[in-house]
Amino acid sequence: MVKRTVRDLPLQGKRVLLRADLNVPLRGGAVADDTRIRAALPNIRYLLGEGAAVVVCAHLGRPRGQVRDELRLAPVAARLSELLGLQVTVAEDSVGASVEKRVRQLRPGDLLLLENLRFHSEEEANAPDFARQLAAFADCFVNDAFGAAHRAHASTEGVARYLDSAAGLLMAEELERLGSVFSAAAGTRAALIGGAKISDKLTLLRRLIERVDILCIGGAMAHTFLLARGLTLGASLIESGLVGEARTVLEAAARRGCILELPVDGVIGQGPDLAPRARPLTFAEEEVGSGWQVLDIGPATVERFSEALRPADVIVWNGPLGLFEQPAFAGGTRALARVLAGLSATTVICGGETAQAVHEAGVAERIDHISTGGGAALELLEGRTLPGVAVLPDRVV
Ligand code: 3PG
Repeated sequence: MVKRTVRDLPLQGKRVLLRADLNVPLRGGAVADDTRIRAALPNIRYLLGEGAAVVVCAHLGRPRGQVRDELRLAPVAARLSELLGLQVTVAEDSVGASVEKRVRQLRPGDLLLLENLRFHSEEEANAPDFARQLAAFADCFVNDAFGAAHRAHASTEGVARYLDSAAGLLMAEELERLGSVFSAAAGTRAALIGGAKISDKLTLLRRLIERVDILCIGGAMAHTFLLARGLTLGASLIESGLVGEARTVLEAAARRGCILELPVDGVIGQGPDLAPRARPLTFAEEEVGSGWQVLDIGPATVERFSEALRPADVIVWNGPLGLFEQPAFAGGTRALARVLAGLSATTVICGGETAQAVHEAGVAERIDHISTGGGAALELLEGRTLPGVAVLPDRVV
């Protein structure tokens, strides 16, 4: 069902509570990557342009109910001010009498950013009283925080119970792009999944083999599958307790006719610095020696994954295929980024590290959709209901 969006709300002269996902990485007290702030801009501009007064609420990091000065939203406000071209101020808190006073003074076209919601434990507890205090600030609620939609928190779920609510422009776009990405109408469906741990993505993998025709698994999580196939992998990262689960996934994929590709070669490294003695190794020809670790996929795997993905009409990619923060082990991830950019398939990227890899490979412009969601995008791909979406009313047609 399509959700009601901000375009369906009367906004002129209204006060709007906007939940945005401004959870960005900081470095040295400044925003290190402003992708999520940029992604929030169209919705903010739309609200201001329609004559609303906007109260933005957001979280930053995981302060777990404590005020932590390094997680105040001031750096986010500074970047938002630059991008919007207007002075964005941060309220001293996210609720309370003094905040309420400032909210009451807002005029159409004004914007106020509330302080980090997670300084209050009631936010993550989805406490009704906290949600009601947020709701009291506004005439209506717009949830544009797709990246936090898998959390049932006061500002993502609770508040929508007390106000006329709608999805923001980014939320609507993400749901449209990701919600139906693996529908039967999508044609031949493929997923490329990397990352360090199979335990983080076991549910995803189980669901994917039911939903896609082609599944390529790389990154350290592939090692547990390779172990299940009898390979020796030296000191590589392996979750040996999950070998049985990995075998079940392989068998289920075979039963369903899902083509499942695993690495056939890798780049190995050794010692505390890993990189100085890095070299490629083909699994069929050589065992990974003790003390050596597989840290990237090798060129034959890049070739194999590219061939496997070629017939796909839609490809979703999540998770790097090696230790890509070290240049010696970034080659596989970068190569696949270029492969995806060159295919005619609809390409969708999710997860912060994967997005970063695509940017670093210089091909972001040629990817159809780069999601702002990490956990939220994965849960949606698993076919799960996101609480922050479920609570929003469906669009009446
Ligand atoms: C994210 O960064 O994925 C979202 O903002 C949610 O943050 P969380 O994982 O701390 O809930």
